[in-house]
Amino acid sequence: MIAPVLHRLRLPRHRATTAHLSSVYPYVAESGLGAAGVYLGINVLSGGGGFAYDPFEAYRAGLVSNPNMLLAGEPGVGKSATAKCFVYRSVGVFGRWVAIADPKGEYLPLAEALGLSVVKLHPGGTARVNPLDPGPSGAGDGPDELARRQSSMLVALLGSVLHRDLTPVEDAVLGWTLTHLARTARGEATLADVAAVMADPTPEMCERARVERADLARSVEAAVYALGKLLDRSLRGMFDGRTTVRLDWDGPGVVLDLSAVHHDPEALTVVMVAATAWLQAVLARPAGPPRLQVLDEAWSLLASERTSRYLQACWKLGRSYGVANLAIVHRLSDLRAQADDGTAASKVSMGLLADTQTRILFRQSSDQVADARELLDLTSTEAKLLSRLCRGRALWKVGSRTALVQHLVGPREQALCDTDGRMGA
Ligand SMILES: Nc1ncnc2c1ncn2[C@@H]1O[C@H](COP(=O)(O)OP(=O)(O)O)[C@@H](O)[C@H]1O
Ligand SMILES: [Mg+2]
Repeated sequence: MIAPVLHRLRLPRHRATTAHLSSVYPYVAESGLGAAGVYLGINVLSGGGGFAYDPFEAYRAGLVSNPNMLLAGEPGVGKSATAKCFVYRSVGVFGRWVAIADPKGEYLPLAEALGLSVVKLHPGGTARVNPLDPGPSGAGDGPDELARRQSSMLVALLGSVLHRDLTPVEDAVLGWTLTHLARTARGEATLADVAAVMADPTPEMCERARVERADLARSVEAAVYALGKLLDRSLRGMFDGRTTVRLDWDGPGVVLDLSAVHHDPEALTVVMVAATAWLQAVLARPAGPPRLQVLDEAWSLLASERTSRYLQACWKLGRSYGVANLAIVHRLSDLRAQADDGTAASKVSMGLLADTQTRILFRQSSDQVADARELLDLTSTEAKLLSRLCRGRALWKVGSRTALVQHLVGPREQALCDTDGRMGA
């Protein structure tokens, strides 16, 4: 008759610090990650204690070896809401400067609440950003470093439009063009300048290639046409000239509203590459507060090995300027999408994961769980949990530490996070 005995057994509730609990109940209770950071919600694994996080604090505490964050989960599980609350509180508490690439146009209420500048980019619009912008640190980088950075962006951009890698000739001519422009263009070069020089190569370039000017121009025609997509075809007016936007460095940051192209996945990839290039340039400031870069719907940048490689290069550069990147994707197989066709691609996605030591895993559909488990080295319990998480709850893997967090949206933040409005929920 155990049940009635248990029924009558009344023990006082035991309270202890999470540090004590985790030694009394090893593998059951977590000690938590500490209170350094902004409050995000309840850590279910530490008996309902608060959960706070800040990538720079986690880096300082040695929990992670880079400040980058990845949020993954099915649509509607609360990834963007978590990112918005995190940004809202990080700007408020730590005074972080934030740059957001917003493919759905859903960060505008947050921008209004925080006083972020909003740059709405759309074909034929008035606001323009130059992906070749040398940025405030450009002068210090030197022309060769600038040309190298621009070249990695243009390889990703042209590859996305052409759906292939650049040929060796295209690659060489592109590199020579950028070096030429870095040395000759007073101020900043634009994509139109790149197209003009590639279409009409300089004598020096012809000499290096040892072919006639007309032949050299013909062999890079496809790349010039690909640039035309941004210059005179469907995306014109967004990236085809000098930057017309003035950034307020004394303000809290900027939102790039890219919703005009959200319906077209192919255009979105090109636009995300160009937009990230500009954000990267403006974020690369030697001085100022630590910065956060948020790339919502970042799966569009993981569409191919070329763009993933570019994203990884941005991650690495960000580290030297005190930028924490926060990327939001749907499935972890987005990271793997290109991995099946070659080992090089697989290394890129694994490298990107290695450069992202804070992984925040929301609910995944059950067919994604095996992938997630393998890519992130999850335990079987963690993997099982992934398909059962409710909205707003995520498994946080911070370096080797784990937390299960129910994110809390404050009353004031609800209006910033609501993406269900149009569903009538
Ligand atoms: N922790 C939470 N508590 C309450 N509501 C939430 C929470 N997280 C998300 N929501 C709501 O769920 C809806 C979908 O969230 P959203 O962040 O847009 O999903 P996702 O970006 O994963 O597609 C939004 O309307 C948001 O307000
Ligand atoms: Mg979202």
